[in-house]
Amino acid sequence: MEENNYALQMQDITVEFPGVLANDHVSIDCKKGEVLGLLGENGAGKTTLMNVLYGLYPATTGRILLDGQEVKINAPTEAIAHGIGMVHQHFKLVDTLSVIENVILGISDKKQKLDLEPAKKRLLELCKEYELYVDPDEIVWKLPVGKQQWVEILKALYRDCKVLVLDEPTAVLTPAESDQLCNAIRHITAKGRSVIIISHKLRELIEITNRVTVLRDGKFIGTIDTKDATELKLAAMMVGRPVSIERKAHPPFENPEPILVMKDVCAVDDRGVPALKNFNLVVHAGEIVGIAGVDGNGQRELAECISGMRKMTSGSITIKGKPVTGVIADPSFLGFIPEDRQKTGLVMDFSIADNMIVKDYYNEPFAHKHVLRYKEIKRHARDMIKKYHVKTPNEDVHVRNLSGGNQQKVVIARELDPEPVLDIAAHPTRGLDLGAVSNVHDILLKERNRGAAVLFISAELQEVMALSDRIVVLYSGESMGDLNGETADQQVIGQMMLGQSPEVQA
Ligand SMILES: Nc1ncnc2c1ncn2[C@@H]1O[C@H](COP(=O)(O)OP(=O)(O)O)[C@@H](O)[C@H]1O
Ligand SMILES: [Mg+2]
Repeated sequence: MEENNYALQMQDITVEFPGVLANDHVSIDCKKGEVLGLLGENGAGKTTLMNVLYGLYPATTGRILLDGQEVKINAPTEAIAHGIGMVHQHFKLVDTLSVIENVILGISDKKQKLDLEPAKKRLLELCKEYELYVDPDEIVWKLPVGKQQWVEILKALYRDCKVLVLDEPTAVLTPAESDQLCNAIRHITAKGRSVIIISHKLRELIEITNRVTVLRDGKFIGTIDTKDATELKLAAMMVGRPVSIERKAHPPFENPEPILVMKDVCAVDDRGVPALKNFNLVVHAGEIVGIAGVDGNGQRELAECISGMRKMTSGSITIKGKPVTGVIADPSFLGFIPEDRQKTGLVMDFSIADNMIVKDYYNEPFAHKHVLRYKEIKRHARDMIKKYHVKTPNEDVHVRNLSGGNQQKVVIARELDPEPVLDIAAHPTRGLDLGAVSNVHDILLKERNRGAAVLFISAELQEVMALSDRIVVLYSGESMGDLNGETADQQVIGQMMLGQSPEVQA
């Protein structure tokens, strides 16, 4: 008999949630020593498929083979015993325990007095072998998220996993940490172990994988050898149509009235360090002003000052002539897509319907004489779900159960549908896949074309260039200059982002 060179085969897997077919007869396989990319838009069913492998969800059809042998996996303990390791999108570490305690959690013999020394020794060997360094005695909550991920990976390697699944590992990593991860993955596969990496970063998958399997809407779309893959090819498979972040037409806008006017605005960050330094900005009706810059150069404070969530230390801000003095809660005035949709944009354990009205639940038609009118609230939510193509079985679903792209659609519907005079979008596409990104871009462009003033903050230069009428580069709380979005040069912006004035290149 021929030796089976597949570490893992999942065949014909189906998983159904109420109203959603999350996996629809999906098959994937992963060879020994291979890095397999699992690619798909938010909600495509990637995490669900891997959760089946890890024994978290039962599949209603299909089977799993490891090394060619069929296995039944009904719980994570069984998955681990079969050599499956999993690093979830949201880590499962115990924050208050040390690294080494987390690593041996669940495998130490409870009857014996715990001797951590041999375990530490083994962990340090693994750190060295895979070049993922962590201090075994450090308490987990004190570690930056990147290091916490190393702990999760080391924990799986400590259990001698044969197949390691990483669910969107680089979403929380800095570029340097992502490089370290790639390096570790090479060590892992060099030892004959297999890695399945979930991501929607195309460039990264092309760099690190041997093959890529694409899912869409719960269905298997195809598997291609990475050597034959291009970003465009993968994106088209993922979205089902050709996509790109190209600049679309910005029709000229008549009569551009200044809407947002900031004069000499100074503000400090949470630690009291100056974050905005005499910042001046005007955003007109019918234009998108993009704020380019490396994260942490005052972008957050800028958005917070305009929305009234942070007090300026000096200067003035007016919106349509009215000074901003406190939090703006008038939905016809300001639409605000905050940087962290899960913390400030949404109440995760509220339904879609309730999230749609958190800003004006006390107003007609949602309330009458202080009594909420649920029929109206639900009807409104259904309208919004339809209009903004939120993928959900109904309006009562908690937003926690929506994919990132669909959560963002709920925020956008609530904030922008009232047609405010000013839109602030802070990193509105962060963490979204290409299809969802292009959807958000289309909506912002539509906002501009109806006459909204749009302030668009993003650390992704490509999308700032694709979307903006003007680009302001923010560096260390100061404007480095104001460029025409149509003609701006990527290299020039790049240098301005590092604090060099544009005339240097002239
Ligand atoms: N526990 C759950 N309950 C209900 N629906 C779920 C649950 N987990 C996932 N879903 C739904 O299943 C679909 C696939 O989700 P998921 O596997 O998380 O996608 P991906 O990881 O590709 O973004 C989505 O429509 C999602 O809303
Ligand atoms: Mg997922």
